[in-house]
Amino acid sequence: MKMLKKIWAWIDDRSGITEMLNPLIKHLVPPGSKWSYVFGSATLFCLVLQVITGVALSLLYQPSSSDAYQSLQFITHQAKFGNLLRGIHYFGASAMIIMVGIHMIRVYITAAYKYPREMGWISGVLLLFLTIAMGFTGQLLRWDSNGVWSSVVAAEQLGRIPLIGKLAARLLMGGNTVGGHTLSRFYSYHVFVIPAILFILVAFHLMLVIRNGISEPPKMGRPVDPKTYRQWYKDMLAKVGVPFWPYSAWRDILFGAATIIAIIALAYIYGPPELTQPPNPAYIYTNPKPDWYMLAIFSLFALMPPKIESVVIFVGPVLTVLILLCLPFISHKGERSALRRPWAVFGSICVIVFVFSLFLLGEQSAWSPQFTAKPLTPTAIHSSDTLVIHGAALLYQRGCLYCHKVDNTGGLKGPELTNIARRLSDEDLRVRIVNGGTNMPAYGGILKKEDLTAIIAFLNTRK
Ligand code: HEC
Repeated sequence: MKMLKKIWAWIDDRSGITEMLNPLIKHLVPPGSKWSYVFGSATLFCLVLQVITGVALSLLYQPSSSDAYQSLQFITHQAKFGNLLRGIHYFGASAMIIMVGIHMIRVYITAAYKYPREMGWISGVLLLFLTIAMGFTGQLLRWDSNGVWSSVVAAEQLGRIPLIGKLAARLLMGGNTVGGHTLSRFYSYHVFVIPAILFILVAFHLMLVIRNGISEPPKMGRPVDPKTYRQWYKDMLAKVGVPFWPYSAWRDILFGAATIIAIIALAYIYGPPELTQPPNPAYIYTNPKPDWYMLAIFSLFALMPPKIESVVIFVGPVLTVLILLCLPFISHKGERSALRRPWAVFGSICVIVFVFSLFLLGEQSAWSPQFTAKPLTPTAIHSSDTLVIHGAALLYQRGCLYCHKVDNTGGLKGPELTNIARRLSDEDLRVRIVNGGTNMPAYGGILKKEDLTAIIAFLNTRK
């Protein structure tokens, strides 16, 4: 024991570890920064877990198009704990994205991005994009048809950006098509380029937390005034601040540990995403489905009317990034309490609902529906009855045509509906539509009764 102490004393004296860590451990934090403050550190816990499992995976993974799939099969089925390892890395990525998201929403709702923490927000936004980029590049490394085709879809979308699209797609892919060169490029992005930037930014982000302090829980009627805030914060800390360790840190550690245990448990129970067949350009019936955290973005592009698509693909992301980055400059002072910022709360809820609906849409549509289906033309509607016309319009509006073909319009995911009324009675149709089926969403809760009647009326005109 004495010996150990001596050794530690020597190490500490020569390296200055304690001296270095003291400001981290002992810095004062505002009291009352409770459970809502744990998500940032939980993200960090996930990141550490990702680094560890990622390095472990890289020991066995072979980033070449001829061997990648095989090496993953080996990791999954033969290597000891390989399956669990892949599972942890997958669920860890998911958890990290969820934690980043919650952390960001918390910061926004409590307006913790206001003076003097603007830089924390900006670095945080960049970290969000880097995290997503890690997920995106990691997915391709699986080198099965799902991973590869999802990247192909993304590259095609990127390529449609006016002017710079083609170049950007080529830069991303390392060529005009997805192939071995893309794999080595993505591997390099995933294990060298993005992590390097990520680590620097995380260090910067944490440094800012120490420099500017953790934001105090907002209080109504106590606006942020850049002129007096720093002094006020200092006085407040001197009066009521508590040392980070252990008064606040225990929550971070407890929640972080729980997160990691949950990730490992999920990995143990569900395992990693199954590898679909190896990518094969000749196999056109694949049903590529990106990992869930990419799904919302994919659905957004897939569901967009083609006319506005090329504009939106360019303007949308640029605008989103600009708004996010400019936020702390647009409102860097004033009220922080969510109760005094109803629009901020409303906006957050809208964004959450929007992203979540896109996700659900993407989840249901399992990726092969033809989202470019056009509405039925008057020639396809053999009637002037308003109910029938309404029904035909609904087939388009409700997305039936994404999966079902009527005459020459529509996708092939579901059976053709051109003459479906020959086979199915009204009652049968009703049941099928309301209950859905394999790969068909149940429309019971979505369609109004009159809408259902209209759709059936339309289908009945075509016996
Ligand atoms: C995501 C794709 C998808 C969408 C959107 C979709 N369907 Fe389907 N639909 C299917 C699939 C797949 C089947 C086959 C279901 C099965 O095997 O159980 C099907 C089956 C059906 C059937 C029964 C066909 C038969 O031959 O048994 C009807 C009727 C039908 N859909 C109508 C509709 C209508 C009306 C809508 C819009 C309100 C719609 N579907 C939207 C995929 C879809």
